[in-house]
Amino acid sequence: MAGRDDYVCPHCGGSTWVIDDAGDAQPCVCRGGRIRRAQTRGLVTTIPRRFSGLTVSPDGRQITDHGRPLAFAPEIARAVLKYCRTIDEQLERGRGLWFEGDTGTGKTTLAMLVSKSALQAGHSVAIYSMPRLLATIRNTFDADSDSSYAELFKQLTAVDLLHLDDVGAEQQTEWVLEQLYSIVNERYEDGRAVMITTNLGIADLKKQIGERTVSRLMEMCGDALPLYGSDRRVEFDPAKPDPFSSPQDEPTARKLDHEPATD
Ligand SMILES: Nc1ncnc2c1ncn2[C@@H]1O[C@H](COP(=O)(O)OP(=O)(O)O)[C@@H](O)[C@H]1O
Ligand SMILES: [Mg+2]
Repeated sequence: MAGRDDYVCPHCGGSTWVIDDAGDAQPCVCRGGRIRRAQTRGLVTTIPRRFSGLTVSPDGRQITDHGRPLAFAPEIARAVLKYCRTIDEQLERGRGLWFEGDTGTGKTTLAMLVSKSALQAGHSVAIYSMPRLLATIRNTFDADSDSSYAELFKQLTAVDLLHLDDVGAEQQTEWVLEQLYSIVNERYEDGRAVMITTNLGIADLKKQIGERTVSRLMEMCGDALPLYGSDRRVEFDPAKPDPFSSPQDEPTARKLDHEPATD
């Protein structure tokens, strides 16, 4: 089977333009997707397998993992579900989300659900843990790197949603933090959304990644959604589905139609 890059559009033959009846050039139906793919080539744009079973229930009122409802504080679930429901408008306005709290409380889970909703709605998303993003930036400066920092910068600033997981997780050099600031600032000025998760409160985050970056993120993401409590990773739950199970092993989402909503 041909890969995505080998695909030749039957309408335009790959030029992304078609000639209409009046003889004028018009953008082909494939043009938007092709531009988006070119913009994100080489970036991490897929939901990790562990989080691939996350969905919003058919009635739009619950967050589920492989069809199993996940309980969150009602105001958190409401905010996330609303964001997913209005994803086009949120991204158009450059509004992001900020998840703050203890380890294992569902920050990454909720952010992955949002990214999945954005991807399903046809938006471009770059998904990076902060340590990975900063390592990727550093790598572009290696002598044998096959991508330039300028190209990476262009891509990271062009995607509809930049999803940064575990912000402030590691101490970084001034130089790397300056690159992070440039990316955040460019998106800030262009009105493009950023979504972050972090274990740190505002004061510690400022110390870790710098005040200028944090203040821009605060303006773009709004108030942090607080997720505090016990670590769900260490709570043993025999009913919890295997995150790597295949779809045919999963309970069906249909069963959820009659279950109560979280809010
Ligand atoms: N509301 C929830 N109910 C049950 N399990 C959850 C819930 N939220 C997250 N989990 C599970 O807990 C684990 C940790 O979640 P994660 O989102 O990675 O936490 P964090 O990013 O806050 O450290 C994952 O295995 C996830 O599937
Ligand atoms: Mg996390």
